[in-house]
Amino acid sequence: TVLVLDFGAQYNQLIARRVREAQVFCEVVPGDISYEEVRKKNPAAIILSGGPASVFEPGAPSMDPAILTMGIPTLGICYGMQLMAHLLNGTVTPAERREYGRTPMTLTQSSPLFLDIPEHSTVWMSHGDHVLKAPEGFTVLASTNTTPIAAMANPARNLYAVQYHPEVHHTEGGFRMLQNFLYQIAHLEPNWQPDQFIPQAIAQIREKVGNGRALIALSGGVDSALAAALAHEAIGSKLTAILIDHGLMRQGEIEEVVQAFPSLDLRVVRRDDVFFAALKGVTDPEAKRKIIGREFIRAFEHAKEAIGPVDVLIQGTVYPDVIESGGKNARTIKSHHNVGGLPDDVGFEIVEPLRWLFKDEVRKVGEALGLPDSIVWRQPFPGPGLAVRIVGEVTPDKVDILRQADAIVRQEIRKAGLERQIWQAFAVLLDIRSVGVMGDERTYGFPIVIRAVESLDGMTADWVRLPDDLLETMASRIIGEVPRVNRVVYDITSKPPGTIEWE
Ligand code: XMP
Repeated sequence: TVLVLDFGAQYNQLIARRVREAQVFCEVVPGDISYEEVRKKNPAAIILSGGPASVFEPGAPSMDPAILTMGIPTLGICYGMQLMAHLLNGTVTPAERREYGRTPMTLTQSSPLFLDIPEHSTVWMSHGDHVLKAPEGFTVLASTNTTPIAAMANPARNLYAVQYHPEVHHTEGGFRMLQNFLYQIAHLEPNWQPDQFIPQAIAQIREKVGNGRALIALSGGVDSALAAALAHEAIGSKLTAILIDHGLMRQGEIEEVVQAFPSLDLRVVRRDDVFFAALKGVTDPEAKRKIIGREFIRAFEHAKEAIGPVDVLIQGTVYPDVIESGGKNARTIKSHHNVGGLPDDVGFEIVEPLRWLFKDEVRKVGEALGLPDSIVWRQPFPGPGLAVRIVGEVTPDKVDILRQADAIVRQEIRKAGLERQIWQAFAVLLDIRSVGVMGDERTYGFPIVIRAVESLDGMTADWVRLPDDLLETMASRIIGEVPRVNRVVYDITSKPPGTIEWE
């Protein structure tokens, strides 16, 4: 395995994903992991991530310098390079000019790290500090106009570092450099595939459940669906699934899930009345989220009683959730609710068969297991469902309007062949009205917002430049087919500063 030591970079998950794309398994661990623990894990290589801090700021994230003496091939990236230099008595200073964005870089010394990478290339930089003097024993491998030490190495100690970000697409030869580090320097073989993990996950579920019974809550999303498929494969009729219909699902969603699992003991629990009653008159977004989270747990407990004793709860937690909940400085922007958010004191053991997988890997495994496309390629959908896409009070009426508009947006995206490229495309209903004219009649109706974003992990996102014709088709269909809607607008906000969902 490869360890990625996390120093708080926005891009740390991206590093891990790239390593896995290079078909090498890796784990993201906190930057302050102890020497002992690293020894126990016995990694074949270590990558030090970037991070927003300055090494000389008080309280800046650091690492046990002993880890750098173990002889394990280590690559520092951005902050990781500065930290390596700082801990080994090099000099790090604030740069005269911040370097940000695409930057031409020149290789000054040959190294296996840059095998097959041209002497001149363009890399992605994002830093305020830089290494002014490399530690003793290091040679400089590359530089840019403003950064004399853009890459450095001490091959005798197996230490390598780059100031730029090889993990982002804008860096030419970035992936190649990571591959060089893994294959040439750490001598790893490209042989890891996410579906290799299926037998292991099945064995784990069998072992934990034994002769007992297991339960899973399905949300309609791909993660819980895949966890259910794995568990069903592992233990067959010892598994029961619950699907809580909170009345806030998308069109056809419940039916699709039911159809995807013909032989699973799946119980759909209708609770829409309860959810709508609890949401009546509530307009504050956080209050809505909390109510839905609470009602979800109640519905689950209620259903559980009818099922009888259960020993194991299967959850579809994926790797980004695991990394994030291990992080220290995550601030609550929104209180997330999902099936992974059930309380821990449920009274049985929790098994999370997907906890090592990224979303794209979950999809690969889903395909390998033969789940239908409608499930595998389903776009992420928030636990609180359509409620966070209705600004203001949530009523059955409004859910009905939104559901129709949302179905049109998704149909047209699918027809245009864009479903798999786009992270999420959906509709939002606002609680204002505006004046329009249809036929010769004045109308006074609701606006629908179309939102489509590209994203790798939902943490940041860019609005999608959808073709005009496609927007036009969606708008005219929505106004023509959905009663009480007379205006359609397109959301051109990225994240940040916007969030993906409206609430
Ligand atoms: P935001 O709106 O915070 O969303 O930019 C980021 C991603 O998370 C999804 N999302 C949720 N997923 N439970 C979930 O399981 C939630 O409560 C929740 N809220 C937002 C959102 O759809 C996007 O993909």
